[in-house]
Amino acid sequence: MEKKFIYADYAAASPVSDEVLKAMLPYFSESFGNPSGVHSASREAAKAVAQARRKIAAAIGADYSEIYFTSGGTEADNWALSAAKGKKIVTTNVEHKAVLNCCKALEKSGAEVTYLPVDGSGFVTAKQVDAAIDSSVGLVSVMYANNEIGTVMPVEEIAEVCRKKGVLFHTDAVQAIGNLPVNVNGIDMLSCSGHKIGAPKGIGFLYARKGTPLESLIYGGNQEFGLRAGTENVPAIVGLGEAVKLACEGVHDNAEYVTRLRNKLIDGLLEIPDARLNGSRENRLCGNVNISFADVESEAVLLMLDAAGICASGGSACTTGDNEPSHVLTAIGVPAKYISGTIRFTLSSRNTEDEVDYIIKKTAEIVERLRRIRKA
Ligand SMILES: Cc1ncc(COP(=O)(O)O)c(C=O)c1O
Repeated sequence: MEKKFIYADYAAASPVSDEVLKAMLPYFSESFGNPSGVHSASREAAKAVAQARRKIAAAIGADYSEIYFTSGGTEADNWALSAAKGKKIVTTNVEHKAVLNCCKALEKSGAEVTYLPVDGSGFVTAKQVDAAIDSSVGLVSVMYANNEIGTVMPVEEIAEVCRKKGVLFHTDAVQAIGNLPVNVNGIDMLSCSGHKIGAPKGIGFLYARKGTPLESLIYGGNQEFGLRAGTENVPAIVGLGEAVKLACEGVHDNAEYVTRLRNKLIDGLLEIPDARLNGSRENRLCGNVNISFADVESEAVLLMLDAAGICASGGSACTTGDNEPSHVLTAIGVPAKYISGTIRFTLSSRNTEDEVDYIIKKTAEIVERLRRIRKA
């Protein structure tokens, strides 16, 4: 398919891959049965759902019975936090709004939440988590990798601390799957979203270790082991199963290539005067470039990039429209004059070196032009 534009916003959404679409197609019209029935059409659909669940479980080192399909990452995050059962939650101040705003809602109904601060690159340490856990804490939620600045958190160490202290550990792995090797060893709950990894929007899953006290999310039929009622979105579930399998299988090959593109983009953009990279240079997601330019407004840069055929974002897509400075950039202490000129490019293996060259050239021209206009 010929490209309509240079897409550099893969952390916001990714296209459904050919393999995933092919796997899904029969389940729209050929194999359309309701998985809950007893006849052969139903059994066919139920088998496809079971197969997708099995594929996901195998890809992340879980058991079949520990995978719950959801409408996406937001729902998985909200659901996971319900397992705190009213006990105190420990999280960080750079989580996605799916966690932060859920915590805010839980606080309104009386729950206590500790928001751990991060360092200048966006990291929280296992030691900080350890120090925050006392007998009132029921659950810790720390994201695997940050959606804005790509920081990869020390989740294995944090999981170990939680295990030793006997509290549940949830991680939002929405940006990690496909970019990093992900295994649920030591993790009690993990969230994933389909549209970041080549599956459709509106599908995701929550992994919850056997015995996790998950509340029923939606009441009704007996779907998702009786905890999330409603007829399954069979084509999307089939797509998610294939996408997770492919994402986990391809993680090493993709990461090497995408890291090379990312480093080239970072180096090129840092040649622009008064630019700063946000987050860690080394320990960041392979495709993430979050960069700020002083004395420009990101909205203007984004519109001009769009006019030049480049799709990027100003922070996280979900925060657009908030009019608030990014909570992540604020948390890592990015000075105000840089925050408002922040652009996030997120690359994938679909990008090319030529595209990166073009992005660097156009961004440099746009930033220079906007600064000239501002001075005039
Ligand atoms: C880290 C993170 N968590 C959760 C979500 C929400 O996922 P969904 O859009 O599937 O609800 C996103 C989406 O951008 C994300 O980046």
